[in-house]
Amino acid sequence: MAVAVGTALVPLTLAGAALADDAELRALAKENFEIIPMQAPQLGDANVMSRERVELGKMLFFDPRMSRSGLFSCQSCHNVGIGGVDGLETSIGHGWQKGPRNAPTMLNAVYNIAQFWDGRAPDLAAQAKGPVQAGVEMNNTPENVVATLSSMPGYVDAFAAAFPGVNDPISFDNFALAVEAFEATLVTPNSKFDQFLLGNDGAMSDQEKAGLKLFVETGCAACHNGINFGGNGYYPFGVVETPGAEILPEGDTGRFKVTETAGEEYVFRAAPLRNIALTAPYFHSGKVWDLREAVAVMANSQLGAALEPGQIDDIVAFLGTLTGEQPEVVHPILPVRGADTPKPEP
Ligand code: HEM
Ligand code: HEM
Repeated sequence: MAVAVGTALVPLTLAGAALADDAELRALAKENFEIIPMQAPQLGDANVMSRERVELGKMLFFDPRMSRSGLFSCQSCHNVGIGGVDGLETSIGHGWQKGPRNAPTMLNAVYNIAQFWDGRAPDLAAQAKGPVQAGVEMNNTPENVVATLSSMPGYVDAFAAAFPGVNDPISFDNFALAVEAFEATLVTPNSKFDQFLLGNDGAMSDQEKAGLKLFVETGCAACHNGINFGGNGYYPFGVVETPGAEILPEGDTGRFKVTETAGEEYVFRAAPLRNIALTAPYFHSGKVWDLREAVAVMANSQLGAALEPGQIDDIVAFLGTLTGEQPEVVHPILPVRGADTPKPEP
C-alpha cells in the first residue's frame, strides 16, 4: 500500500517507520537529556533575582573598572556576542599575560553543578570572586573593588536598590551575588534539539538525527548528558588513551589540584556542550580549533572508538543543533567615576 505525497508515491510502511524512528529517538534522547526552559531559572534562597539585582549584575559584568588596570571586564573574556567566550586558545588578561586555560562560556553555566574546568567553584557567586582577584585575569583586590564601587554615586544607588534593607549594601559578597543573578539570565533556550525534544520532528535534519543517535550509542552521553550535555560530572581526560601533551598539557592535572586525591590526576568536568559550535577553540588547553577533530579526539581518548569520517560529520551536525537563542544584551550605561575613584594601575 502507498499514499500519495505530492506527486511521489511513498510506501506507507516507510512513512510509518520514519515516524516510529522519531518517537524512538525522542524517547532515547529524553532518557539522557533535558530541554532548557524558556524562563531563566531562579537561584533559590541564596540569591534573589530581582530586576534591580540583575541590572546591577549586568553593569558589573560589563565594567572594566572592576579590574586593576581598568581594561578587563568579564565581557572581555566572556563576550556575549560570540557565544560567551573570547575565541582565544587561552585567555589574555592583566599585563597581556596569557592564562593557563581556555575560557569556557558562561551561557547556561547556571545549570552546571560546579564552575571551572575542574569544578573548583561551587556556584556562580563563588566563581565571580575568582577572576577579579586572579593575577592573570583582572588582578584586583576585594578592597579596591569595594572602594571603586563606593566612590561612584551611580553604584551606591544601584547597590541600595539591589540589596534593599541592608546596612552596607556595597560588599564583595554582594558584587558576586549581583553578577550571579545576571549570569543566571544568560540562557539559550529553543535550540533545534530542544524543539525536537518538545515534539517537533522537523526541527532536526536526518543527518542531525543520525548524529544524535550516534552520540548516545557511541557512549558520549555517558558523560555529556543532562540539561547542559555535561557540566555535571568528573572524568579522566584520557580514559582509554591519553591525548598528546599538546592537547593535554602535563602541568595541568585538573581535579587533582583541587582535591589532592590520588587517582584524580587529569580528571576534568565533562565539558558542557550547549552552543559548542560557537565556542572554538576546544578543550581546557584550547589547542583544537576544529570541532570534527575535537569529536575524534574524544572518541579515541574517552571511548577507544575510531569513528568513520561520515560518523564524525553526523555527530558534528548534531552538536550544531545545541546552539540556542542567544541572549540579546544591551550594553549598560555605567556610572561615571567620582573624585575618589581609585585610578587604574598598569
Ligand atoms: C571561567 C565568569 C572574568 C577567563 C569562568 C566561568 C564563569 C566565568 C561562569 C566558569 C564557566 C564554566 O565552568 O563552565 C566570569 C565573570 C567574570 C569573569 C563573572 C568577571 C567577574 C574573566 C576574565 C577572563 C576570564 C576577565 C580572562 C582574562 C576565564 C577562564 C576560565 C573562566 C580562563 C576557566 C578557568 C579555569 O577553569 O580554571 N568565568 N569570568 N574570566 N573564565 Fe571567567
Ligand atoms: C570535552 C565531545 C565522549 C568527557 C569534550 C569536548 C567535546 C566533547 C566537543 C570539548 C568541549 C569544549 O572544549 O568546550 C564528546 C563526544 C564524545 C565524548 C562527541 C563521544 C564521541 C566523552 C566521554 C567522556 C567525556 C565518554 C567521559 C568518560 C569529557 C571531558 C571533557 C570533554 C572530561 C573536558 C576535557 C578537557 O578538560 O579539556 N567532549 N565527548 N567525553 N569530554 Fe567529551
